[in-house]
Amino acid sequence: MSDLKVNIIDHPLVQHKLTLMRMQETGTKDFRELLEEISMLMAYEITRDLPLVDMEIKTPVSKCTSKTLGGKKMGLIPILRAGLGMVNGIVRLIPTIKIGHVGLYRDPETLKPVEYYCKLPTDVSERTLIVVDPMLATGGSASAALSLLKEKGAKNIIFLCLVAAPDGVKVINEDHPDIKVYTASVDEKLNDHGYIVPGLGDAGDRLFGTL
Ligand code: PRP
Ligand code: URA
Repeated sequence: MSDLKVNIIDHPLVQHKLTLMRMQETGTKDFRELLEEISMLMAYEITRDLPLVDMEIKTPVSKCTSKTLGGKKMGLIPILRAGLGMVNGIVRLIPTIKIGHVGLYRDPETLKPVEYYCKLPTDVSERTLIVVDPMLATGGSASAALSLLKEKGAKNIIFLCLVAAPDGVKVINEDHPDIKVYTASVDEKLNDHGYIVPGLGDAGDRLFGTL
Protein backbone atom coordinates (compact mmCIF):
# COMPACT_ATOMS: atom_id res chain seq x y z
CA MET A 1 0.00 0.00 0.00
CA SER A 2 2.77 2.44 0.91
CA ASP A 3 4.32 2.27 -2.57
CA LEU A 4 1.02 3.14 -4.26
CA LYS A 5 0.82 6.63 -5.75
CA VAL A 6 -2.66 7.77 -4.78
CA ASN A 7 -4.24 10.86 -3.25
CA ILE A 8 -6.82 10.10 -0.57
CA ILE A 9 -9.53 12.69 -0.06
CA ASP A 10 -10.05 12.39 3.68
CA HIS A 11 -12.44 15.30 4.19
CA PRO A 12 -14.85 14.31 7.01
CA LEU A 13 -17.96 14.98 4.92
CA VAL A 14 -16.64 12.75 2.11
CA GLN A 15 -15.79 9.95 4.54
CA HIS A 16 -19.18 10.21 6.29
CA LYS A 17 -21.12 10.10 3.03
CA LEU A 18 -19.01 7.20 1.76
CA THR A 19 -19.95 5.20 4.86
CA LEU A 20 -23.64 5.82 4.11
CA MET A 21 -23.12 4.68 0.52
CA ARG A 22 -21.39 1.49 1.62
CA MET A 23 -24.32 0.42 3.83
CA GLN A 24 -26.39 -2.27 2.11
CA GLU A 25 -29.67 -0.77 3.37
CA THR A 26 -29.00 2.50 1.48
CA GLY A 27 -31.45 2.51 -1.43
CA THR A 28 -31.13 3.86 -4.96
CA LYS A 29 -32.48 7.36 -4.24
CA ASP A 30 -30.07 8.00 -1.36
CA PHE A 31 -27.17 6.28 -3.12
CA ARG A 32 -27.64 8.55 -6.14
CA GLU A 33 -27.91 11.71 -4.04
CA LEU A 34 -24.88 10.80 -1.93
CA LEU A 35 -22.76 10.07 -5.01
CA GLU A 36 -23.68 13.47 -6.46
CA GLU A 37 -22.82 15.24 -3.18
CA ILE A 38 -19.54 13.38 -2.72
CA SER A 39 -18.53 14.07 -6.31
CA MET A 40 -19.03 17.78 -5.75
CA LEU A 41 -16.94 17.71 -2.56
CA MET A 42 -14.20 15.69 -4.24
CA ALA A 43 -14.16 18.03 -7.23
CA TYR A 44 -13.70 20.92 -4.81
CA GLU A 45 -10.63 19.18 -3.38
CA ILE A 46 -9.00 18.14 -6.66
CA THR A 47 -9.36 21.60 -8.21
CA ARG A 48 -7.65 23.44 -5.36
CA ASP A 49 -4.45 23.91 -7.43
CA LEU A 50 -6.11 25.24 -10.58
CA PRO A 51 -4.20 28.27 -11.85
CA LEU A 52 -5.65 31.72 -11.31
CA VAL A 53 -5.00 34.87 -13.31
CA ASP A 54 -5.64 38.50 -12.50
CA MET A 55 -8.62 40.23 -14.02
CA GLU A 56 -9.46 43.93 -13.99
CA ILE A 57 -13.07 44.43 -12.94
CA LYS A 58 -15.32 47.16 -11.66
CA THR A 59 -17.40 46.62 -8.54
CA PRO A 60 -20.30 48.98 -7.79
CA VAL A 61 -17.77 50.84 -5.60
CA SER A 62 -14.45 50.95 -7.49
CA LYS A 63 -12.14 49.33 -10.03
CA CYS A 64 -10.02 46.45 -8.73
CA THR A 65 -7.87 43.50 -9.75
CA SER A 66 -9.48 40.18 -8.88
CA LYS A 67 -8.73 36.50 -9.49
CA THR A 68 -10.33 34.34 -12.14
CA LEU A 69 -9.63 30.82 -13.37
CA GLY A 70 -6.84 30.70 -15.95
CA GLY A 71 -5.01 27.78 -17.53
CA LYS A 72 -6.47 25.07 -19.70
CA LYS A 73 -10.17 24.56 -20.27
CA MET A 74 -11.60 21.50 -18.57
CA GLY A 75 -13.37 18.35 -19.69
CA LEU A 76 -15.28 15.75 -17.71
CA ILE A 77 -15.27 12.13 -18.89
CA PRO A 78 -17.57 9.70 -17.06
CA ILE A 79 -16.91 6.02 -17.72
CA LEU A 80 -20.36 4.56 -18.47
CA ARG A 81 -22.44 3.61 -16.74
CA ALA A 82 -21.60 4.26 -13.11
CA GLY A 83 -19.43 7.30 -13.87
CA LEU A 84 -22.63 9.12 -14.90
CA GLY A 85 -23.56 9.34 -11.23
CA MET A 86 -20.59 11.64 -10.64
CA VAL A 87 -21.39 14.12 -13.41
CA ASN A 88 -24.06 16.36 -11.90
CA GLY A 89 -22.17 17.15 -8.71
CA ILE A 90 -19.09 18.23 -10.68
CA VAL A 91 -21.11 20.20 -13.23
CA ARG A 92 -22.71 22.17 -10.40
CA LEU A 93 -19.22 23.36 -9.41
CA ILE A 94 -17.83 23.80 -12.94
CA PRO A 95 -20.91 24.61 -15.03
CA THR A 96 -19.05 25.32 -18.29
CA ILE A 97 -17.14 22.02 -18.29
CA LYS A 98 -17.49 20.03 -21.55
CA ILE A 99 -18.53 16.40 -21.13
CA GLY A 100 -17.35 13.39 -23.12
CA HIS A 101 -18.48 9.80 -22.61
CA VAL A 102 -16.54 6.55 -22.70
CA GLY A 103 -18.63 3.38 -22.56
CA LEU A 104 -16.95 0.33 -21.09
CA TYR A 105 -18.30 -2.67 -19.29
CA ARG A 106 -16.41 -5.34 -17.50
CA ASP A 107 -16.96 -8.81 -18.93
CA PRO A 108 -18.18 -10.82 -15.92
CA GLU A 109 -16.18 -13.92 -16.95
CA THR A 110 -12.84 -12.46 -17.98
CA LEU A 111 -13.14 -9.19 -15.95
CA LYS A 112 -11.65 -7.50 -19.05
CA PRO A 113 -13.11 -4.16 -20.22
CA VAL A 114 -15.20 -4.10 -23.41
CA GLU A 115 -15.53 -0.71 -25.16
CA TYR A 116 -18.95 0.13 -26.62
CA TYR A 117 -19.09 3.93 -26.87
CA CYS A 118 -16.83 6.95 -27.19
CA LYS A 119 -17.89 10.54 -27.84
CA LEU A 120 -15.51 13.30 -26.82
CA PRO A 121 -15.21 17.07 -27.14
CA THR A 122 -13.24 17.78 -30.35
CA ASP A 123 -10.42 19.62 -28.55
CA VAL A 124 -9.52 17.02 -25.87
CA SER A 125 -5.80 17.69 -26.43
CA GLU A 126 -6.26 21.26 -25.18
CA ARG A 127 -8.24 20.38 -22.06
CA THR A 128 -7.50 19.15 -18.57
CA LEU A 129 -9.69 16.06 -18.35
CA ILE A 130 -11.24 14.69 -15.17
CA VAL A 131 -12.08 11.03 -15.78
CA VAL A 132 -14.63 9.71 -13.28
CA ASP A 133 -15.78 6.25 -12.26
CA PRO A 134 -16.89 5.39 -8.70
CA MET A 135 -15.02 2.05 -8.67
CA LEU A 136 -11.39 1.24 -9.46
CA ALA A 137 -11.25 -2.54 -8.98
CA THR A 138 -8.82 -4.51 -11.19
CA GLY A 139 -8.05 -1.22 -12.95
CA GLY A 140 -8.83 -2.73 -16.36
CA SER A 141 -11.68 -0.35 -17.23
CA ALA A 142 -9.93 2.81 -16.06
CA SER A 143 -6.65 1.88 -17.72
CA ALA A 144 -8.42 1.15 -21.03
CA ALA A 145 -10.36 4.44 -20.82
CA LEU A 146 -7.19 6.41 -20.12
CA SER A 147 -5.36 4.72 -23.03
CA LEU A 148 -8.28 5.50 -25.34
CA LEU A 149 -8.26 9.16 -24.29
CA LYS A 150 -4.51 9.38 -24.88
CA GLU A 151 -4.98 7.82 -28.36
CA LYS A 152 -7.50 10.60 -29.05
CA GLY A 153 -4.90 13.20 -28.09
CA ALA A 154 -5.53 13.86 -24.38
CA LYS A 155 -2.37 14.99 -22.60
CA ASN A 156 -3.50 16.22 -19.24
CA ILE A 157 -5.70 13.81 -17.26
CA ILE A 158 -6.78 13.36 -13.63
CA PHE A 159 -8.54 10.15 -12.56
CA LEU A 160 -11.16 10.45 -9.81
CA CYS A 161 -12.90 7.50 -8.18
CA LEU A 162 -14.74 6.90 -4.94
CA VAL A 163 -13.38 3.53 -3.85
CA ALA A 164 -10.22 1.85 -5.11
CA ALA A 165 -8.61 -1.54 -4.62
CA PRO A 166 -4.83 -1.63 -4.20
CA ASP A 167 -4.61 -3.75 -7.40
CA GLY A 168 -6.41 -1.08 -9.43
CA VAL A 169 -4.23 1.75 -8.17
CA LYS A 170 -1.12 -0.33 -8.98
CA VAL A 171 -2.34 -0.94 -12.54
CA ILE A 172 -2.94 2.78 -13.14
CA ASN A 173 0.42 3.70 -11.57
CA GLU A 174 2.17 1.21 -13.88
CA ASP A 175 0.19 1.80 -17.09
CA HIS A 176 -0.21 5.56 -16.68
CA PRO A 177 2.50 6.94 -14.39
CA ASP A 178 1.69 10.47 -15.62
CA ILE A 179 -1.86 10.39 -14.24
CA LYS A 180 -2.78 11.49 -10.72
CA VAL A 181 -5.28 9.18 -9.01
CA TYR A 182 -7.71 10.59 -6.43
CA THR A 183 -10.02 8.48 -4.28
CA ALA A 184 -11.90 8.62 -0.99
CA SER A 185 -10.65 5.19 0.05
CA VAL A 186 -8.21 2.46 -0.86
CA ASP A 187 -9.97 -0.64 0.42
CA GLU A 188 -8.50 -3.93 1.53
CA LYS A 189 -8.61 -6.19 -1.54
CA LEU A 190 -10.56 -7.74 -4.40
CA ASN A 191 -12.63 -10.88 -3.96
CA ASP A 192 -12.66 -13.83 -6.40
CA HIS A 193 -15.27 -12.07 -8.57
CA GLY A 194 -13.21 -8.89 -8.85
CA TYR A 195 -15.39 -6.97 -6.38
CA ILE A 196 -13.80 -4.56 -3.95
CA VAL A 197 -13.82 -5.72 -0.32
CA PRO A 198 -15.48 -4.21 1.66
CA GLY A 199 -16.38 -1.80 -1.20
CA LEU A 200 -19.99 -0.89 -1.77
CA GLY A 201 -21.15 -3.60 -4.17
CA ASP A 202 -21.97 -2.97 -7.82
CA ALA A 203 -21.98 0.80 -8.17
CA GLY A 204 -23.88 0.86 -11.49
CA ASP A 205 -26.62 -1.43 -10.23
CA ARG A 206 -27.04 0.47 -6.96
CA LEU A 207 -27.09 3.79 -8.81
CA PHE A 208 -29.63 2.82 -11.44
CA GLY A 209 -31.66 0.31 -9.44
CA THR A 210 -30.84 -2.64 -11.68
CA LEU A 211 -29.89 -5.03 -8.90
C1 PRP B 1 -17.80 -1.13 -12.91
C2 PRP B 1 -17.25 0.19 -12.44
C3 PRP B 1 -16.00 0.32 -13.26
C4 PRP B 1 -15.52 -1.10 -13.36
C5 PRP B 1 -14.40 -1.31 -12.38
O1 PRP B 1 -18.44 -1.01 -14.11
O2 PRP B 1 -18.16 1.25 -12.61
O3 PRP B 1 -16.21 0.87 -14.55
O4 PRP B 1 -16.62 -1.94 -13.00
O5 PRP B 1 -13.87 -2.58 -12.50
P1 PRP B 1 -12.39 -2.83 -13.03
O6 PRP B 1 -11.50 -1.83 -12.35
O7 PRP B 1 -12.12 -4.24 -12.61
O8 PRP B 1 -12.38 -2.67 -14.52
P2 PRP B 1 -19.24 -2.23 -14.79
O9 PRP B 1 -18.33 -2.97 -15.71
O10 PRP B 1 -19.92 -3.02 -13.73
O11 PRP B 1 -20.24 -1.49 -15.72
P3 PRP B 1 -21.46 -0.50 -15.35
O12 PRP B 1 -20.84 0.81 -14.87
O13 PRP B 1 -22.15 -0.37 -16.65
O14 PRP B 1 -22.30 -1.15 -14.27
N1 URA C 1 -17.40 -2.73 -10.09
C1 URA C 1 -18.25 -2.36 -9.11
O1 URA C 1 -19.27 -1.72 -9.36
N2 URA C 1 -17.96 -2.73 -7.85
C2 URA C 1 -16.85 -3.43 -7.54
O2 URA C 1 -16.63 -3.72 -6.35
C3 URA C 1 -15.98 -3.80 -8.57
C4 URA C 1 -16.27 -3.42 -9.85
